[in-house]
Amino acid sequence: MRGRLHVVGFCLLFGVKALGLEERDPPSYPSTTTITIPYLGSCTTSTTLTPCTGPVTVVIETPIVTPVCTTSSTTTSTSTTSASPTAPPTDACLLIKPFCAPAGLNIDYYANAFAGYSSGKVPPSYYITEGLTPLDSSLTNETYFSQNVDPNGLPSVYPDPSLPTAPYFVGWTRATNGGVIVDANNFTVVYQGFYRAPVTGRYELCTTADNEDALFFGDGNAFSCLDGTPPTDAEPVVVSTGASFVNGINCTNVDLVQGFYYPVRNVMGNWQGPSAFNFTIDAPGVQFASRTNNFPGSVYPHDCGIFL
Ligand SMILES: *[C@@H]1O[C@H](CO)[C@@H](O)[C@H](O)[C@H]1NC(C)=O
Ligand SMILES: *[C@@H]1O[C@H](CO)[C@@H](O)[C@H](O)[C@H]1NC(C)=O
Ligand SMILES: *[C@@H]1O[C@H](CO)[C@@H](O)[C@H](O)[C@H]1NC(C)=O
Ligand SMILES: *[C@@H]1O[C@H](CO)[C@@H](O)[C@H](O)[C@H]1NC(C)=O
Repeated sequence: MRGRLHVVGFCLLFGVKALGLEERDPPSYPSTTTITIPYLGSCTTSTTLTPCTGPVTVVIETPIVTPVCTTSSTTTSTSTTSASPTAPPTDACLLIKPFCAPAGLNIDYYANAFAGYSSGKVPPSYYITEGLTPLDSSLTNETYFSQNVDPNGLPSVYPDPSLPTAPYFVGWTRATNGGVIVDANNFTVVYQGFYRAPVTGRYELCTTADNEDALFFGDGNAFSCLDGTPPTDAEPVVVSTGASFVNGINCTNVDLVQGFYYPVRNVMGNWQGPSAFNFTIDAPGVQFASRTNNFPGSVYPHDCGIFL
């Protein structure tokens, strides 16, 4: 994990003693009301409100407690939690550009050689290390496109002598998201930007893909909050692979804090034949069947980041 913006040891102590009335005689209403509220600070502080009449109110502000947990890449939710107070979250970016609109995630379409990425031959960082420029780019709130099948009536060629039975259908295209149309035989689409957590709690991120999706999540994994670059040596938090209409689901749990901006990046590829993609987020308290792959209002483009 590289450097990130950090606000620690930031603690304002408000000793609002008496609203100018602290010199007066002992209150005739000696009772005290105590309210405890969580806040985005790193230490416990308090504010005493003494009204002219009535009970004194003591507001105790305690740091929001974010569980630190281990992630699991299995299809079952078996991860354990060891709660410890940490605020603000270490895997989120603290700020994005003020007034940046939730215009969607960036979707970028990259060349992917026949039998290239998603066949196991090259890692999901290939498009970065090879310095590829997107063939097309757009924005999307949706991270899903349906399973297609081989086309009818298109001429086929066999571009890879080591795969003599793997056809490339000339002229075959398909729609992905954001109006991006790709060479349906072999392509890569990268979805990246920020997810703003609508509530605090445990989320489940899941993907299925034909042929492969590598999910990167958080500061220094999806990309750096400091300079916006995706690390080429990052390990994906989830990988899902599929083929021949069998696309297994893989999931991981993440603990998110409401209102923070979490970098997210999916590198989805197809190396030959039919393709499919689904990336879903299951928010706290939402039934798994009601999870979503469409995030209007919660996803922001990469250039909303404040990068050096
Ligand atoms: C897919 O592979 C074919 C055959 O090798 C190649 O001509 C084409 O450029 C590739 N498409 C993409 C999007 O990389
Ligand atoms: C899910 O992830 C595990 C562990 O990384 C991996 O062994 C398995 O092949 C993945 N399943 C699918 C369907 O990709
Ligand atoms: C894709 O995700 C949605 C939830 O957004 C789910 O209802 C649907 O079953 C998934 N489809 C596939 C093919 O995985
Ligand atoms: C995503 O959703 C937001 C909020 O509804 C909307 O303003 C934006 O135009 C949407 N983006 C796309 C690409 O549809």
